[in-house]
Amino acid sequence: MAVSIKSEREIQLMREAGRILAMVHQELGKQIRPGMSTLDVDRIGEEMIRSYGCEPSFKGYCGYPGSICVSVNEEVVHGIPNAKRILQDGDIVSLDAGVIYKGYHSDAARTVAVGNISKEAQDLINRTRQSFFEAMKVARAGHHLNEIGRAVQDYAESFGYGVVRDLVGHGIGSELHQEPEIPNFRQLRRGIKLRPGMTLAVEPMINMGTADVVWMDDEWTVISEDMSLSAHYENTILITDGKPELLTLTEEEKAAGYLDLF
Ligand code: CO
Repeated sequence: MAVSIKSEREIQLMREAGRILAMVHQELGKQIRPGMSTLDVDRIGEEMIRSYGCEPSFKGYCGYPGSICVSVNEEVVHGIPNAKRILQDGDIVSLDAGVIYKGYHSDAARTVAVGNISKEAQDLINRTRQSFFEAMKVARAGHHLNEIGRAVQDYAESFGYGVVRDLVGHGIGSELHQEPEIPNFRQLRRGIKLRPGMTLAVEPMINMGTADVVWMDDEWTVISEDMSLSAHYENTILITDGKPELLTLTEEEKAAGYLDLF
């Protein structure tokens, strides 16, 4: 199957799905504080998504029970919301969410601080985000897919971090996961040529230590094998004739100058 090129109508619907998800992230990120459970985070997030007239795309996906993946510290992705898992001052928490608007998906993740965090943890969060923006410098029509992974890997590894290999980004549209897979690391093959109208979820997952991960017995939660901290930064993007359009960037991120990072 070829990678789909979205029509103008589809792009409009994905812009709206992205705009809504950005609002959810902006508001949810602000609510995070010590003492909340990860289930509280999920409940608040699901409520927000539904308040905007969208469906949480993760809920029930392959049996996933939550609306928001809430992954704490060494948890890389797919943490299951749990009333007994209480966020503590100094934790970092990755919030991954997807919404469906009129049949079209957006998908985005942010790692945020719980209370006061260490400089090492903040550096990991900032550099994981920047690894995404390094990828945006090459996410251009005419470039090849492998340039994305190479950009993420070169940047993240320059700090001695581990780039997770067992999970990848993906095309997105009328389904959460479409072709192509988007690795965050170097590939032997150059991959497809990027073309205007492709919509992609680019999502570096970066560990402070080893790149290796293991799956927990709950069959969802992925943790770093050495229990080092892990961060995640994901946006749904549209390939254009120029710079990529970031469909899930928050207004605060735009105001902070993130559009000038690539
Ligand atoms: Co994704």
